[in-house]
Amino acid sequence: MTTREHPASGDGVLAFPPDFLWGAATAAHQVEGNNLASDWWAREHRADTDLAEPSGDAADSYHRYPEDIALVAHAGLGMYRFSFEWARIEPEQGQFSRAELDHYRRMIDTCRERGVEPMVTLHHCTNPLWFARRGGWRAHDAPELFERYVERVLPLLEGVEWVCTINEPNMVAMLRDWEAVEMLAARQPAPDERVAQVLVEAHRRARGVLSRQPGLRSGWTIGTQDFQAAPGSEAVAKAYGYLREDYFTEAAAGDDFIGVQNYSRTVIGRHGPLPVPPGAETNILGWEYHPASLGNAIRHTASLAPGTPIVVTENGFATGDDRRRIDHTAAALAGVHSAIQDGIDIRGFLYWSLLDNYEWGSYEPTFGLVGWDRETFARHPKPSLDWLGTVARTGRLVPVPATGSFGA
Ligand code: BGC
Repeated sequence: MTTREHPASGDGVLAFPPDFLWGAATAAHQVEGNNLASDWWAREHRADTDLAEPSGDAADSYHRYPEDIALVAHAGLGMYRFSFEWARIEPEQGQFSRAELDHYRRMIDTCRERGVEPMVTLHHCTNPLWFARRGGWRAHDAPELFERYVERVLPLLEGVEWVCTINEPNMVAMLRDWEAVEMLAARQPAPDERVAQVLVEAHRRARGVLSRQPGLRSGWTIGTQDFQAAPGSEAVAKAYGYLREDYFTEAAAGDDFIGVQNYSRTVIGRHGPLPVPPGAETNILGWEYHPASLGNAIRHTASLAPGTPIVVTENGFATGDDRRRIDHTAAALAGVHSAIQDGIDIRGFLYWSLLDNYEWGSYEPTFGLVGWDRETFARHPKPSLDWLGTVARTGRLVPVPATGSFGA
């Protein structure tokens, strides 16, 4: 037995490795507020916008991040994943803001002061508006422009161990153009192969820059769908999943780590994705309650990138019923534990999201461990924050008392 194997104890409790990283994640545009120079802000404010509501002040985490990081620390979570906002750092092409760079360095310092390990994402869905206007990831020099941004932020990352280059490049490659994003899993358009290649190049260039920082581990994070073939649709499912997911996982094989993000499954029939089965429980976004998908996604990732360390960089459930959030997370973690027992190198689990946030068009889907008042921004931790903190502090996942199981 290696030191990372931790079988269940006799009472059904699942023990995690002592060095396992526990935390929660956010992304700049979804919590900071007033991300004025980004393409998403522009999209929110178009006269013919397709979005239900604009992000506005969001959770005002731009100013309240010390309080948010303190909540992570008090709960007993050891890691906070957040993103740098490229549109703030480089609001016009070639014009870098020293004040914004200082802001993000202060966030890193605040994590350190609180004993929280920062995980920094350099690109999370949004682009500077100037970058989008000149073609976004379709522009021939997009990788160079991203690399130049990474060069600028490199000094801030001194002492930071975990850095994600691009969040969900597989989703980014599905965007038809900068104003037509569709984040909903079940409606994924075919990805653009050229954009997929450009993103891989941008990722490799970014990793090249980041490798100059001693001790820094870099990787990217894949939005996984746990594609499952309906009987007789195996070949269709394989083809459907290749460019939407596997291409990006294969490109990350051998990186310092790979981030696995998962929320549910997608069953593929002969003509593509099938709707959620009638009567199945869903979250606020209509995604099926299927926490076992995280374990499946981890195993699938490990089969395509054998030996590459995995961090679960996002997993969560958008619900107003916090009890069900705990059930979902417990069941998902049981899948993580089982994969660790089978020898897969999984380094940590970050719940999505620390805060209820701007879900790319609406505040209605509540993923957060922490709610907040829309008028005062006062934070309201939910029981799930303390629950996850207890799992983190003890390294032990205890079955749900009522059922003796893990929230299935
Ligand atoms: C994204 C997050 C998003 C979450 C839930 C992930 O695809 O990285 O930004 O909020 O899914 O929709």
